[in-house]
Amino acid sequence: MISAYQATCQARVDAALEPLFHAPSAELQRLYAAMRYSVMNGGKRVRPLLAYAACEAFGVAPEQANGAACAVELIHAYSLVHDDLPAMDDDDLRRGQPTTHKAFDEACAILAGDGLQSLAFSALLDANLSPQSDATRLAMVQTLAKAAGPAGMVGGQAIDLGSVGLKLDQQALEYMHRHKTGALIEASVRLGALASARAEPAQLEALQVYAQAIGLAFQVQDDILDVESDTATLGKRQGADIARDKPTYPALLGLEAAKAYALELRDQALQALDGFGANAEPLRALARYIVERRH
Ligand code: IPE
Ligand code: IPE
Ligand code: MG
Ligand code: MG
Ligand code: MG
Repeated sequence: MISAYQATCQARVDAALEPLFHAPSAELQRLYAAMRYSVMNGGKRVRPLLAYAACEAFGVAPEQANGAACAVELIHAYSLVHDDLPAMDDDDLRRGQPTTHKAFDEACAILAGDGLQSLAFSALLDANLSPQSDATRLAMVQTLAKAAGPAGMVGGQAIDLGSVGLKLDQQALEYMHRHKTGALIEASVRLGALASARAEPAQLEALQVYAQAIGLAFQVQDDILDVESDTATLGKRQGADIARDKPTYPALLGLEAAKAYALELRDQALQALDGFGANAEPLRALARYIVERRH
């Protein structure tokens, strides 16, 4: 089920993203080409899928969440461009292709990332919401700013880089993962729900519990795949965490315990959706997919 749903959502978000990368002048062609290269290169589009699925959980057409879906993928793509830079993880391969700083150059990759971040907020400000509500739009911008910023993803990346070679305990590792990866995944779900304009506060809370669990599970699975997958399947270098002595769940708990933990988090996520009916099936399928995925 997930692959058909994923293909539909990928096509929808890609169609919404594509027009953002037309350079307004010849001088800016290279910058726009670098931004396009960083976004329109495959990618599982998990965060847009979550935004669409959260919107659909309220019986609202997923197109309502187009702005949200674009915004979270733009932030994600920017975070990957910067994550791969020599000053950070220093990786050459991303989504099966040379990383942006390899295909272009470092300065261009830094600026492309900066540009993508701004485009993300524009995508929310330009989102076609129904009803057109300034209060909803403001809540969406606030959600993304918090998740992407120093109290969210950027903070997590800072902890990650400061932890190389250190032995974190499980609490510290969880804190890092919840920030660097969990925050944007939580925002993806919340933005989709907000875009539906039908979410009650208690429902937003239940979705938050769901999203926290899958957000952590997503990074646990990313750590697991770094150990047991291969470079061709991943589209990024297998074994990079081990080579760089990064703190990860398999390193801390061992591979089997890390896998068991990912499944436990999936079950927590599914339980949080108990109050939702059949419309939340895509969210349930995504929780299963996140811990079963092979890349
Ligand atoms: C990789 O994210 C980086 C993490 C936050 C773990 P994804 O696994 O979603 O990467 P793409 O978008 O599919 O390339
Ligand atoms: C990346 O985590 C998290 C963000 C980009 C915010 P990783 O460094 O583990 O991601 P990969 O493994 O390079 O995709
Ligand atoms: Mg990293
Ligand atoms: Mg990395
Ligand atoms: Mg990783």
